[in-house]
Amino acid sequence: MPLTASEKAFILNLWPKIAPRVNDLGGDALDRLFLSFPQTKTYFSHFDLSHGSADVKAHGGKVLSALGKAASHLNDLDGALSSLSDLHAYNLRVDPGNFALLSHTIQVVLAINFPNDFSAEAHAAWDKFLSEVAEILTSKYR
Ligand code: HEM
Repeated sequence: MPLTASEKAFILNLWPKIAPRVNDLGGDALDRLFLSFPQTKTYFSHFDLSHGSADVKAHGGKVLSALGKAASHLNDLDGALSSLSDLHAYNLRVDPGNFALLSHTIQVVLAINFPNDFSAEAHAAWDKFLSEVAEILTSKYR
């Protein structure tokens, strides 16, 4: 089910607050991913995964910036995420189950940092948005 107009508004309203802090917020989401779900570290054996490392922050920034690009193309998520979808399916071959884990830690970070914005409705909208992103990034596996 595509995002509704009000769900899109929850994504667009929060994004400008995330944008200036992508490295810190994305880095925190990855820190939590690696601590809570250590099996996800296997994909990043070439990174320094220690708490708050430059590698983790830089990569967290890339992940959230990709979500920002998606947020600015809510009517064409497939197109906006096409090359990332190729990368995750053909090159990285990330097990699709990991996307729900990252989606979870991203939402934890949003809830902690933006408690006034992250209402139950906003939470549901972000969960749906992240599920759509994950579906696209895992759509080309074969
Ligand atoms: C690379 C986004 C989920 C593993 C990347 C890059 C972006 C990105 C933007 C960098 C691409 C580039 O440098 O051209 C996302 C988004 C995700 C997601 C938006 C879902 C919300 C995951 C998950 C995993 C993963 C769940 C595994 C647990 C990787 C790895 C790389 C990568 C291993 C390459 C890192 C490197 O060597 O620099 N991802 N990703 N991604 N992603 Fe994802």
